[in-house]
Amino acid sequence: MPLNIRTYRDLTEADRSGLVDQIVAQRRRVADRLATVRRVLAVLSGKGGVGKSFVTAGLARALVRGGRATGVLDADFNGPTIPSLLDLPVARSTFHDDAIEPAMSPEGVRCFSMALLLEDGRPLAFRGPETEGHVWRETLEAAALREFLADVAWGTLDQLLVDLPPGVQRFQELTELLAVPPAVLAVTIPTAESRDAVRRALHGAVERKARLLGVVENMVGGPFTGSAADELAAEFGIPVLARIPWHPTPDVWDAIALSVRSTS
Ligand SMILES: Nc1ncnc2c1ncn2[C@@H]1O[C@H](COP(=O)(O)OP(=O)(O)OP(=O)(O)O)[C@@H](O)[C@H]1O
Ligand SMILES: [Mg+2]
Repeated sequence: MPLNIRTYRDLTEADRSGLVDQIVAQRRRVADRLATVRRVLAVLSGKGGVGKSFVTAGLARALVRGGRATGVLDADFNGPTIPSLLDLPVARSTFHDDAIEPAMSPEGVRCFSMALLLEDGRPLAFRGPETEGHVWRETLEAAALREFLADVAWGTLDQLLVDLPPGVQRFQELTELLAVPPAVLAVTIPTAESRDAVRRALHGAVERKARLLGVVENMVGGPFTGSAADELAAEFGIPVLARIPWHPTPDVWDAIALSVRSTS
């Protein structure tokens, strides 16, 4: 059963120019809101469960320890984990008339996540037609990303880290909303399977003219074998910024923060 919405092609000329105006206005709102953010850094993998969120949170903490104003936008709307990784399990964001104040972690990382809007433990449910649910969900998730980028008042930041969900879709949506493509930090585990998924994601990022900062290899020294990071680094001409063992200590994160800072 078709959705009861019009596609772009169905629009009349008048509607169509209205739509273009709206898109231009929204992009302008995002640009205005991010004017005080020096750079946006997307943490991407293409593969699920390799530690994107873990790396994002550890890196953000270390950047703040090193004196860098840092925010994290949790762009995983269905599996938001950043608040608990930053020890913000029950924090709530504050709303003003035209802005959302990010929450502040105990260490001073500014954070915004769908988890800060949802009642504890309840999954995200968009209202929409029962059929074609995935199409509806994707559309609304893209809209949520746009609203968050336009409405969260980060203040002055050296960097905004964006923790992406698995897959490549959210990265594409993010890139379309920003005036300049985000810088990309790729996270992989050592295996060939992870390498192949990250390779696809990195090709997508290169196509969108994003700057690749480097690759981080996570879960090193455990059961996973392979040399994904070295192979990806050679293939894309980028550095291996870090190799993260299981349960890294703060000094490991501090070293990673330094190498990420050296890419700015
Ligand atoms: N180096 C590590 N040492 C110990 N635990 C880790 C490490 N890296 C990740 N983890 C744990 O592994 C699990 C998966 O990590 P995480 O949620 O960050 O992956 P992800 O790539 O963000 O997953 P998703 O694709 O679902 O967003 C989490 O429980 C995380 O705390
Ligand atoms: Mg995650």
